[in-house]
Amino acid sequence: MNAPAAAPADQSNAPAWVRHRRLRQWVSEVARLAKPDRVVWCDGSQSEYDRLCAELVAAGTFVRLSEKRRPNSYLARSHPTDVARMEDRTFICSAKKEDAGPTNNWIDPLQMRQTLNRLFDGCMRGRTMYVMPFSMGPIGSHIAQVGVEISDSAYVAVNMRLMTRMGRAVAEWLAEERDFVPCVHSVGAPLAPGQKDVPWPCNEKEKWIVHFPETREIWSYGSGYGGNALLGKKCLALRIASVMARDEGWLAEHMLILGMQAPSGEKTYIAAAFPSACGKTNLAMLIPPAALSSWKVTTIGEDIAWIKPGKDGRLHAINPESGLFGVAPGTSEQTNPNAMKMLESNVIFTNVAMTPDGDVWWEGMTEQPPARLIDWQGKEWTPQDGENGRLAAHANSRFTVAASQCPSMDPSWEDPVGVPISAFLFGGRRSSTIPLVVEAPTWEDGVYMAATLGSETTAAITGKLGVVRRDPMAMLAFCGYNMGDYFNHWLKMGHSVAQPPRIYRVNWFRRDANGKFIWPGFGENMRVLLWIAQRCLGRASGMETPLGIMPRFEDLLWTGLEKKISPAQYAELARVDSAAWKEELASHDELFGKLGERLPEALEARRGRMHEKLAA
Ligand code: OXD
Ligand code: MN
Repeated sequence: MNAPAAAPADQSNAPAWVRHRRLRQWVSEVARLAKPDRVVWCDGSQSEYDRLCAELVAAGTFVRLSEKRRPNSYLARSHPTDVARMEDRTFICSAKKEDAGPTNNWIDPLQMRQTLNRLFDGCMRGRTMYVMPFSMGPIGSHIAQVGVEISDSAYVAVNMRLMTRMGRAVAEWLAEERDFVPCVHSVGAPLAPGQKDVPWPCNEKEKWIVHFPETREIWSYGSGYGGNALLGKKCLALRIASVMARDEGWLAEHMLILGMQAPSGEKTYIAAAFPSACGKTNLAMLIPPAALSSWKVTTIGEDIAWIKPGKDGRLHAINPESGLFGVAPGTSEQTNPNAMKMLESNVIFTNVAMTPDGDVWWEGMTEQPPARLIDWQGKEWTPQDGENGRLAAHANSRFTVAASQCPSMDPSWEDPVGVPISAFLFGGRRSSTIPLVVEAPTWEDGVYMAATLGSETTAAITGKLGVVRRDPMAMLAFCGYNMGDYFNHWLKMGHSVAQPPRIYRVNWFRRDANGKFIWPGFGENMRVLLWIAQRCLGRASGMETPLGIMPRFEDLLWTGLEKKISPAQYAELARVDSAAWKEELASHDELFGKLGERLPEALEARRGRMHEKLAA
């Protein structure tokens, strides 16, 4: 008689506060595969954070910044090949290729699992495996989701503590059997016995960011940077959550959420989608110009919104994150004073420059750079280097900071039921064609506007200015399933509540004949937000145009800006150029053509109607 096979030993090293058997088992399995030297469960405490930061300083990953200038803050410099999200290494491994759709990379899931098994076998040798239970959204909120990230990077562990609600309280909420999204991450750099570690371990040859939408799993290998490694953010909160949202009737979007408080105290909440590098963080923390200072803008979130139908017939949104992983360059007292205040202490900076007195600097922080700096790669830098085109801070250098440090956070930002959304905004960087603001006459028109959102790539990406990349709903890199099905889901969501938000297209970036921005942007965007808020309350008028409803000059508040924007300049901002729109519609056709049969008919029909209206 065969003896029953012995149960594999529990290698999870789970503390008593982890009562979830399936979670312990899964951690054991990953430990058996990845073979770390030790397994450490993160409790999410301040003392744990401080200890890990001290270890990162000792390892050379972190430099502790001046206690006087930037208290309790650190600077990390990444490997020069590991500096950004990698869209070409990101995969949606759905069972069927067509469910990932033409805008995602796809590999057969069985084949992918073989590759991952090979890559992860022994990949954590010589390292510590951290286990981090985390909640996206307030713990226990009906809109929140729990994930557990396993990572062999202490840098990831301390960033996850700022970016998510992470640690013991989440494991306790999971109790014995609640669901969680398993997220496995390795820098892909095992250490042989006695081998000295490097400050930024990563795998220079192979990087993989892999999602299994049906089983709701994430596996990431080879990179330690940002969205490739902090798996709660783009991987869970957008790619996997968008699939959950499709199946369960809600929305997981690449949107900031802000509140506008009228002098009467009345509040209007707006969620706004912009492609990366269009100033979402600045808009989320906007300070109104002096003439509008009786209004206040408050922040709920600056990157991601999870939105569910509420019992009151409206859509309600939460910010699933609890911290910001924001782009540093361009942030200054002029562009975003709230962010500068938020960054005074308790920050992890990655790939910014360091001043001789142990503070940080990045391009755009001050008009004049300091006379001497250490650049993001640890080398001496002078303004002369800047004149020769060498950046002191990497263009994608970042700060990680708890949202609670942001002075403009809304008192309801952690409300588990979310805030009611009155309007959705969609904006991109467009030097021509797209007017300052247009309201969609119907939900379907709005979905068409959002689905055809485009933004000009910067010279840094393509070498050319003015190339429009279609980025539907700003989700091109983040939708975890077929984009045609996603459009269909959006169309349906308009009928899921009695009072769906109004939809607007905005463009702060239109240029004049001399190539200069016409609209001043930043705080002055408040004038457009104000018109939108008043429209939502039924208190502002506008004019019908072939694109939708736009404010006339007299519908916007100009006090304090009269000298900068004349009626003629406003007319240029609002101009609908039929020739340019013909080209625009042709390029919508290009995107829609790719989606083939999965393109909803309602959007095809809208495009036909747009052609007719513009011809008329
Ligand atoms: C981000 C992005 O980092 O959208 O938020 O790229
Ligand atoms: Mn983003």
